[in-house]
Amino acid sequence: MLCLGIESSCDETALALVQDGHLLGSVLASQADVHALFGGVVPELASREHYRYIGPLFDELMSRCRRRAADINLVSVARGPGLLGSLLVGVAFAKGLALGLGARFLGLNHLHAHLLAVGLEQTLAFPCLGLLVSGGHTHIYRMEAPWRCLPLGRTLDDAAGEAFDKVGKLLGLAYPGGRLMDALARAGRADARLFPRPYLDNDNLDFSFSGLKTAAAAYIERYLDGSWPRPLHCVEDAPQALKDCCASFNLAVVDTVCVKVERALDRQPDLRTLIVAGGVAANTLLRERMAELMRRRDGKFLAPSPALCTDNAAMTAYAGWLLGGAGFYHDLRMEAIPRGRVAPEDMLRHAGQLQSEERRLS
Ligand code: KG4
Ligand code: ZN
Repeated sequence: MLCLGIESSCDETALALVQDGHLLGSVLASQADVHALFGGVVPELASREHYRYIGPLFDELMSRCRRRAADINLVSVARGPGLLGSLLVGVAFAKGLALGLGARFLGLNHLHAHLLAVGLEQTLAFPCLGLLVSGGHTHIYRMEAPWRCLPLGRTLDDAAGEAFDKVGKLLGLAYPGGRLMDALARAGRADARLFPRPYLDNDNLDFSFSGLKTAAAAYIERYLDGSWPRPLHCVEDAPQALKDCCASFNLAVVDTVCVKVERALDRQPDLRTLIVAGGVAANTLLRERMAELMRRRDGKFLAPSPALCTDNAAMTAYAGWLLGGAGFYHDLRMEAIPRGRVAPEDMLRHAGQLQSEERRLS
């Protein structure tokens, strides 16, 4: 089965083709430079950029992969959560293609696609615990199957990536600041007493990073003199005090996430595998600590390589291939889901028909 994946939920326009579980190719246009001028994503600009790039990117992908549009069996698209205008560009493009080609159509939960991405590189094992740490979301799931992700905890305010980016902005780092903060942290000395580990004094699996952000803002205002080039693009231009501050902040976020993940694993003793996904899963310390945590528990740690952690369409095409292969699809009435609304479990499923169709297509 040849599956096209389309991703346009935030500020990356991306398309990819997956055939029989293998990535044939992917293309991506990042809008980071456009939004960097404003220090954050401007939704109206984002939709316009998606609209500008999506058609040419599709043509480029098909010619790079030497496939014809008529070869596509399934069009899968991120239906949300995300910016509504951005999602609508991808969803409308996907629906038009599926209709015109007579291909099957599937709208995916963008967060579930993040969690499944590692299947392109390593063998997935279910049931498992899924930690999704991205710019907009910090969620913990019990994953029963690729199509069954049960939420156990979520952020009540800022997501981990959002906290990195907002503190990065206060520090004058180029947007989005998460990746540079990671690099600065590696060159700094962390002081574990500097910042709080927020929202741990409870027995739930939710997160709240807004207090940590406020503590970081107060520290920056009081103790850092701000004498470095703004926006800061590289570690070499940063003074030691800035690197140390990033290291301490990074440690506070990672410690906090570790406590809740360990708590989730204690409560779900049958789960022997942990998947970490989303943009913040590229974070060096987070990966080290999660790997160590699973080693200690004699379990398995899975995380996609950094390029597959941040938004991309390889994950959308792969998740589409997995779910489409299991018979899931949508009809063209499927709606895009903006951030803040929970994506409904409204996939339709062919069962018996599926194996014979798979045989015919392969
Ligand atoms: O998953 P993603 O590409 O977009 C969303 O779906 O939100 O995640 C983007 C987020 C941004 O907040 C970015 O700063 C953060 O991931 N990020 C990182 C790192 N690389 C990206 N945060 C910490 N350390 C990193 N290495
Ligand atoms: Zn994402």
